[in-house]
Amino acid sequence: MHDTLLLFGATGDLAQRYLFASLVGLYCDRRLQDDFRVVAIALSPHDTEAFRTLLRPRLRQANVQPSEAAVDAFLARVEYRSVDLRDPAAVAAALQDLTTRRCLSYLAIPPGLYLSTSQGLSEAGLLDAPHRLVLEKPIGHNLASACDIDRHLSAWIDEARVFRLDHYLGKAPVQNLLALRFGNTLLEAVWNRHYVASVDILVAESEGLDGRDAYYARSGALRDMVQSHILQLLCLVAMEPPASLQADRIRDEKVKVLRALRPLRAHDAAERSVRGRYTAGVVNGTAVQGYQAPPDSDTETFAAVVAYIDNTRWAGVPFRLCTGKRLAERSTRIVVTLQPVAHWLFERPDRRHAAPNRLIFRLQPQEDIELGLMSSLAAPEWGALELRPIELDLSAQTGHQRRIAYERLLLDALQGNSALFVRNDEVEAAWAWTDSVLDAWREAELPVLAYPAGSWGPAEAAGFLPADYDEAPRPQPAQETPA
Ligand code: BG6
Repeated sequence: MHDTLLLFGATGDLAQRYLFASLVGLYCDRRLQDDFRVVAIALSPHDTEAFRTLLRPRLRQANVQPSEAAVDAFLARVEYRSVDLRDPAAVAAALQDLTTRRCLSYLAIPPGLYLSTSQGLSEAGLLDAPHRLVLEKPIGHNLASACDIDRHLSAWIDEARVFRLDHYLGKAPVQNLLALRFGNTLLEAVWNRHYVASVDILVAESEGLDGRDAYYARSGALRDMVQSHILQLLCLVAMEPPASLQADRIRDEKVKVLRALRPLRAHDAAERSVRGRYTAGVVNGTAVQGYQAPPDSDTETFAAVVAYIDNTRWAGVPFRLCTGKRLAERSTRIVVTLQPVAHWLFERPDRRHAAPNRLIFRLQPQEDIELGLMSSLAAPEWGALELRPIELDLSAQTGHQRRIAYERLLLDALQGNSALFVRNDEVEAAWAWTDSVLDAWREAELPVLAYPAGSWGPAEAAGFLPADYDEAPRPQPAQETPA
């Protein structure tokens, strides 16, 4: 297990909100090495004492509710170094004394700084074995820039020691999805186009962009959420069973799914996708402002796309992918809807009101897995069999404390377990499809539609939401064969 974390971007939002809170949690649980230390790196000209003072209140708020003594003991392991990451020579000079330790460099910084920082690490010898590198999403801005980053990195570090982090893969229900799919014959039997009518992947956020406008203006919902988190969820739903749980066997299967995604074409863009941007509105009873995009920007804060996976298992099954900021509520879920019963026998409800079976994986705000079935209300007072929907809770109550995803992933990276990290070819395949959507939008001049904050997105997006969010007709499964 590695003993030193070089945390780049230590004063940034991600590090301050999630990474240090995760580290103190792991520290309190004695999951870190006795000689573990953090070298916090950012541009601000703090010294170590000033940085510790800045960090202290953040640590106190961590989920584990650390005692004051634990906060002190953890802070004693944190030192701060101010470095200009645009300058590889400065990075190398500032960190070269650390090569005798086993370092994990974590780049929680804008992707524009990945190459200069990695070059500095390489010059210092901090990308040679056994050192490791963690990269946060997004890796690049499109396929070309992601390939450029990967090409440079491959000259400096073996792929086996690069950990591309997508925090959605650290969420407990996502791991339960794999357990349910591959630990049971029941689901595998119906997990294909013959029984599955559609799959919805919804990541709805009630939060806006406050404070992240500059990043977002260059990104947008498709690049920020769909290219990474949502496509990773899609892979786990759609992948073939891997030969083993070894990292590369899982990643081999995920990349096949990504490569089988049918590119969006301009002539399908209006029917199979929607873009939106929030205007002023009311979220959870509070008035909020609209998103002020820079002039000439067409950044979307809402994206919905119907994706198709052109392989034998999933041909023709719509995967409705939908995400947005400032929506009515925070809700992340995967909904697998099965085909309706072929021949309906019952009077009540009549066929039109029979709910299809649904498997719902909720990731947020609560974590659970629910199976929707139809069941009987049979009792002497009924003349006919009357069915009603029942929801079975399939989530295992372990009694263990739930962890934020970063704790799991930081520990895995320190221990060298890459099963829950993303490989370079996955990132590139995800960008190839994402670029097809961006190109189709550009070519079709798909408008960015306004929606009031606190709603469920533009009215035109109603059919792209899971069925329990709306009753609008949804885009029909495509009949055509792969292009
Ligand atoms: C990040 C995105 O990767 O994920 C953010 O950049 C988004 O825009 C966040 O808000 C969502 O994460 P979670 O775990 O809160 O759903």
